Amino acid sequence: MSRRRPLPKIVRKRSKLHGFGVFAAEPITKNRRIIDYAGELITTKESEKREDRYLAQGCIWTFRINRRWSRDANVGGNVARFINHSCHGNCWIEITDKTIWIRASRLIQPGEELSYDYCTDGVQSIPCRCSPGCEHRL
Ligand SMILES: C[S@@+](CC[C@H](N)C(=O)[O-])C[C@H]1O[C@@H](n2cnc3c(N)ncnc32)[C@H](O)[C@@H]1O
Ligand SMILES: [Zn+2]
Repeated sequence: MSRRRPLPKIVRKRSKLHGFGVFAAEPITKNRRIIDYAGELITTKESEKREDRYLAQGCIWTFRINRRWSRDANVGGNVARFINHSCHGNCWIEITDKTIWIRASRLIQPGEELSYDYCTDGVQSIPCRCSPGCEHRL
């Protein structure tokens, strides 16, 4: 029997940042694993091709693990794909082998939206709406 702590409850809801977002449904302590960013494991070369298609529709679904591997949440993704970007997010990313864990970077209260820094380095066509006056582009 696994003694691993269950993952915290989270819910998908409309977000003020963009479309849907993901929110804490219980207090989440600092550094707790929240969810893994699921999606088809593909080469980064393939993800660059898909990213161009997705970006033309205004959405980023691919997540780069390293130079060789990426995940495409548009194929086999879970609710983690709805977590929005913030330049001052409350989550951080841990990569173990090819699993992408989203973890709390501080205590997160129920009802707070989860967010992390996407660290995108592509065409940067999407203006960031994380806070008034943010000049970053995704
Ligand atoms: C992985 S999706 C996140 C879920 C998205 N909100 C939805 O409802 O489909 C990533 C996309 O959400 C939007 N997005 C996420 N964070 C944003 C932000 N801080 N400012 C503006 N758009 C954002 C961008 O269009 C981005 O390509
Ligand atoms: Zn921002």
